[in-house]
Amino acid sequence: MQVRISPVRKLRGVISVPGDKSISHRAALLGAIAEGTTEIEGFAPGRDPQTTLEVLERLGVEVEREGNVIRIHGLGLRGLKPPDGPLWAGNSGTLMKLISGILAGQDFTSVLEGDESLSRRPMRVVEPLRLMGAKVSARDDLYPPLEIEGHFPLKPICYSLPVASATVKSALLLAGLYAEGRTSVEEPAPSRDHTERMLEAFGAEVERRWIREGRFEDLEEELDRRLRRAEGERGRVRVQISVEGTGKLEARRVVVPGDISSAAFFLVAGAIVPKSHIRIKDVGLNPTRRAVVEVLRRMGAEVRVEGERLVCGEPVGDLVVRGSDLKGTRIAGTLIPNLIDELPVLAVAAACARGETVIRDASELRTKETDRIRAVVENLRRMGAKVGELPDGMVIGGGGNLRGATVESFGDHRIAMAFAIAGLVAEGETVIEGAEWADISFPGFFRTLEDLSRR
Ligand code: S3P
Repeated sequence: MQVRISPVRKLRGVISVPGDKSISHRAALLGAIAEGTTEIEGFAPGRDPQTTLEVLERLGVEVEREGNVIRIHGLGLRGLKPPDGPLWAGNSGTLMKLISGILAGQDFTSVLEGDESLSRRPMRVVEPLRLMGAKVSARDDLYPPLEIEGHFPLKPICYSLPVASATVKSALLLAGLYAEGRTSVEEPAPSRDHTERMLEAFGAEVERRWIREGRFEDLEEELDRRLRRAEGERGRVRVQISVEGTGKLEARRVVVPGDISSAAFFLVAGAIVPKSHIRIKDVGLNPTRRAVVEVLRRMGAEVRVEGERLVCGEPVGDLVVRGSDLKGTRIAGTLIPNLIDELPVLAVAAACARGETVIRDASELRTKETDRIRAVVENLRRMGAKVGELPDGMVIGGGGNLRGATVESFGDHRIAMAFAIAGLVAEGETVIEGAEWADISFPGFFRTLEDLSRR
């Protein structure tokens, strides 16, 4: 599908964004292996989390759908049923990795398949799940399809992630529920911590520690410090997360906040289109996710947080953005995992800013739904921006003056949406090829954009 975007003079209004995709996947998965019924309000309507529900049904879980309220009738840690054929994870790397952790602890064999994009993405859960005692096979030991012959109980391990990854960490913590004893995962930087928060809420024993030169320190404080400095140090500090195995999880109600990764498109849109004023209601503001706000502020954007409160263990509030003059910045270091999904649209903001922006330490972008470094560089160049590609990032010349062009989504939802935002400030019309991919995380994205430009 093609979508045509014309430049706009202003964007104004109050909007909501879909429920957080990461939290929705986790709530459904934990609900499935908890005891009792988990009610999830605000479950993400995108294709990916819906695929999670379908996979759980194939594993014998009863799922009730009532609009955006989902009820999952949990089967307990060991109650899942062997599927009658391969499980389809579609486009979702998060689903494939997280559920691998659960399937590793079952006493049956499962096969997980994905679409063309997912089949090219590395599933770095294979090695650690084998260390825990599951038999896992994968193409070249890394790529889907995955065949997982579960084992119970699993062996607890202490695994050190070479690159911060919330999906791999979460898979191991979920597998840790099936291990006899304490499973620990260490990360070189704090990635999103929704799994840890939700596991605690469901009654699991989780411990999180920040290790600096051998000493353990408080994680929240360190995160705060980092966000204030807006760029982390590398190498000397690590995060350790541990979970105790073979207990049980108790079902509970989950209210899913708006997805800050979806809100990010409108934060950037509101900042780069002059005279804009957008309020995005009830957005999740977890400290491991909100770095996009700090970076936009550092670039000179006027972004306010209003009505911040805690909902089901996650900070939530409204984000209010106004059209602003932006300046270039540097985005690198241990902050990268905290805005990894927002980098494509931040690159668009950078192209509209005064001066140069440098993005480094983000080679993980190459393992997403498409190689997002290539995709962003290619599309920005088509729109006339000066961009240099780096192995782990890019250098964006800035200065605005984008011109309308035909750009590609490369089958990637966030690339489709990021370049729709670029089209708002380009001269002439921008055509997004493959715009339908936006539905993976944000059905209704183009309608919301149109509503804001009509007011
Ligand atoms: C996610 C973690 C990130 C992110 C993805 C969702 C999650 O992936 O890019 O969109 O829900 O944990 P990695 O942990 O693989 O970097």
